[in-house]
Amino acid sequence: MKKTFLLTVFLAVALFPLKADEGMWLPALISQRITDMQAKGLKLSAEDIYSVNQASLKDAVVLFGSGCTGELVSDEGLLFTNHHCGYGYIQKHSSVEHDYLKDGFWALNRSQELPNPGLTVRFLERMEDVTDLVLKGYKPGKMDEADRIKIVKKNSDKLKEQAVKDGNGLKASVEALYYGNQYFLFVFREYRDVRLVGAPPSSIGKFGGETDNWMWPRHTGDFSIFRIYAGKDNMPADYSEDNVPYTPKKSLKISRAGVKEGDFTFVYGCPGSTQEYVHSEAVKYISQVSDPEKIALRTMRLQIMKKYMDQSQAVRIQYSSKYAGVANAWKKWQGEEKGLKKMKTVATKQAYEARFREWARGTQYKDVLDNLAYLYEERNALYRAYEYYNETVRSIERLRMVSGRPFDMKDYYQPIDEETFVALMEAFDKNLDDAYKPAYFLQKRAEYDSMEAWKDDVFASEEDARALSDALDAFFAGPIVSKVRSLNESLQLTYRDYMRAQMEFEPEKAFYPDANLTLRVAYGHVEGYRPADAIYYHPVSTLRGIIEKDNPDIFDYNIPQTLRDIYAQGGHEDQPVCFLATNHTTGGNSGSPVLNADGNLIGINFDRVWEGTLSDLAFDPDVCRNISLDVRYILFIIKEIGHAGYLLDEMCFVD
Ligand code: ARG
Ligand code: GLU
Repeated sequence: MKKTFLLTVFLAVALFPLKADEGMWLPALISQRITDMQAKGLKLSAEDIYSVNQASLKDAVVLFGSGCTGELVSDEGLLFTNHHCGYGYIQKHSSVEHDYLKDGFWALNRSQELPNPGLTVRFLERMEDVTDLVLKGYKPGKMDEADRIKIVKKNSDKLKEQAVKDGNGLKASVEALYYGNQYFLFVFREYRDVRLVGAPPSSIGKFGGETDNWMWPRHTGDFSIFRIYAGKDNMPADYSEDNVPYTPKKSLKISRAGVKEGDFTFVYGCPGSTQEYVHSEAVKYISQVSDPEKIALRTMRLQIMKKYMDQSQAVRIQYSSKYAGVANAWKKWQGEEKGLKKMKTVATKQAYEARFREWARGTQYKDVLDNLAYLYEERNALYRAYEYYNETVRSIERLRMVSGRPFDMKDYYQPIDEETFVALMEAFDKNLDDAYKPAYFLQKRAEYDSMEAWKDDVFASEEDARALSDALDAFFAGPIVSKVRSLNESLQLTYRDYMRAQMEFEPEKAFYPDANLTLRVAYGHVEGYRPADAIYYHPVSTLRGIIEKDNPDIFDYNIPQTLRDIYAQGGHEDQPVCFLATNHTTGGNSGSPVLNADGNLIGINFDRVWEGTLSDLAFDPDVCRNISLDVRYILFIIKEIGHAGYLLDEMCFVD
């Protein structure tokens, strides 16, 4: 009896060992996870993933630009990233005669590859725990936080200086993990001659546009191709015609064997920011105040933009990139708000905090929860005002234009901005207490019958616009920001204790540090999900779905005629396009390689599903899914649409 029971438990565990795929792990410490990864299917060793003594997968992954990931796919410096990561560079090379955004771009040979001043990629040379060195000289209890900050800075500067003294494009940073309970030194080599090699037309690379963004089923061919160039010594060099393609220590082999439900996958990249260990009050603020208010403000802005974009093709071109920027976070927040409510994250955190409180009684951590709650109470109203200012005042182009910030008049359409001014300033005035408005604003407001009338003056007179902008900026950038900043510092400090306490409270649990754009490994498996009752989403999408969505009258779904023609010839119905997996990712993971159990490239990460965006605060294994582009769709587009099949000659295929 007992035996059967144990066997059942064991089987249950063996059958569902994949439930909790939460976590973004530090590559240098991957040996702590490797047994679990191997149990779930990985066939590699820890040294295959990260090593400083031999070539390992880390040498094929780069931080692309300032906030994306890319991966090396040939021994001649060829790199894949997302279309939306290359977008700005593709746009800069585009003109009316050569609209590479619209038509795509394919270099037919190396001499046609286009340089991108300012674009860099960073390879990680090594990362190491430097906590003791960073805190050298700090005496807890005897020194205060200001002293600690000074010591950390001084020691970090010294470490960074030593780390880069060999020059040759070396860059170093010291990053705080677990709210400063641990410090890691990261040493990179930065290459600065990175050229555009290929990009599909936006009708493929941005297929589905804002309509499909954050959604499944998805069919976006979100990739672009670059090449890293180096000096003759293979070291970083400024752009020069004499530079040669960079030879990486490691490039990824490509698997064309495909994915199926249950397959092990891992993502190697640079997730930007998460807050997994915060107090319930933080989640309450985000899900009940911040998200809903910011969503409402952006809904108004998007409606105004859309109205004018629908009326004019010229305005649509001017505002499409701005629209995308506003819509991206707007949509993510909706998923996050909904997900946090559905998963009852506030209540779950509160229950956890009640247990923690019991445990912490009589320890040095007994007050930490109360202190956090108190700090949030102090901070929230101020922070709300500050967020409101950002989403209203700072989002009005007229006010930005006169404040001396860089502004591109080429993409400006005044009727949109005028209507936005009235809507946003009315919201600002109505929804914020007068205590959060500068005297100039209150006095001026009293002079006008309506926001409409005030708007006329702000748009007619540069002086009026500047006076308003300056008054608001001075007020928010001054007293408000400095108070918010000092409360945030106290929060950080308190979280340092709370983080350590949580680790002592649950000594069996494996904690991963919150994302901070440092290199991480997330692992999971291919799996669909249930977005709502009675619906199951399968994890693989195909070209058939693109044709189902295809509609020449809908901008987001209007595919190139060549793609229609190819499909009509038959045989491509099952061409895979995107797939879902349970890897824990976030913004910054865009462009990250998605690898199979053998460490071969099967896809590129580019998004998450809407219902799962709460994973920046709490990972729900039922709905948190990352969305990847199947590498076989990339190859298909390169060959069939780009007619650039020669690029495949330098790639290495394993199956
Ligand atoms: N949602 C993805 C990400 O967060 C894709 C963004 C591309 N931009 C867009 N607005 N569609 O970055
Ligand atoms: N598209 C996001 C990025 O640019 C990735 C999506 C996410 O937030 O997971 O990094």
